[in-house]
Amino acid sequence: MALRIDGKAIAAALRGEIAAEVETLKARGITPGLAVILVGEDPASQTYVRNKQKACQEVGFYAEQIDLPATTTQEELLAVVDRLNHRDDIHGILCQLPLPRGLDDSAVIAAISPDKDVDAFHAENVGHIMIGDQRFLPCTPAGVMELIHRSGISVEGKHCVVIGRSNIVGKPMAMLLLQENGTVTICHSRTKGLADICRQADILVAAVGRAKFVTADMVKAGATVIDVGINRDENGKLCGDVDFAAVEPIAGAITPVPGGVGPMTIALLLKNTLTAAKQQNGVE
Ligand code: GUN
Repeated sequence: MALRIDGKAIAAALRGEIAAEVETLKARGITPGLAVILVGEDPASQTYVRNKQKACQEVGFYAEQIDLPATTTQEELLAVVDRLNHRDDIHGILCQLPLPRGLDDSAVIAAISPDKDVDAFHAENVGHIMIGDQRFLPCTPAGVMELIHRSGISVEGKHCVVIGRSNIVGKPMAMLLLQENGTVTICHSRTKGLADICRQADILVAAVGRAKFVTADMVKAGATVIDVGINRDENGKLCGDVDFAAVEPIAGAITPVPGGVGPMTIALLLKNTLTAAKQQNGVE
């Protein structure tokens, strides 16, 4: 039976480490501050933002939520970002995506100061990730790396297969695995022989967005299987991109959904905000 990687416990440990550092910073008069912009009333985005705010408060950050109506214009949104870019008490800025129709995600990402871009979505930060001298790690892929590290799994020399090529997960995930000397293959919807490639993986990361896409026949015995998906199955139950019940007996280690990668994404957002606060205050 596979090692079940407990993302909830690992994220809690990481949050504890962050909270301890916040105490030290506060003693020096610095309180890390995160501003989260939410435009419109998408229920999933509202939940994500609420969870981010709550996590910030729990580790002692200053957290500010800016709720804007779906009718907000591009200019109004960019003006909000600009004001936050200039505030000394705000070290990190996050605009929850996707934005309502009519607003341009990429223009908003480009407007956030790269120093405060705790999502690591800005082209300047993406470039830093490509060359391996990043100040912020993208939250979900960095969360996956923490799960791998803290489970005692080495990436060096392993064949790592990433299914999915999004800018948020697939592409940066491949870069972080490559930085640790993995041999990386990126698969996507047009990949031929996907199951064969997946079967060669020592570390398989599924970020497809399709319920139970990864089946038992796609997994090598003993492989580490990381599930980034958050989907609903035919009964409306939360599930990942991996058919957990079928794959768990074959894998060497596996993340569940919920309780795997999900809690790590927010923990890494906190870590990036802490890093931003330290950098902006010249703290090593
Ligand atoms: N929407 C879904 N995931 C994310 C994320 O990690 N950051 C932002 N800003 N929006 C998202």
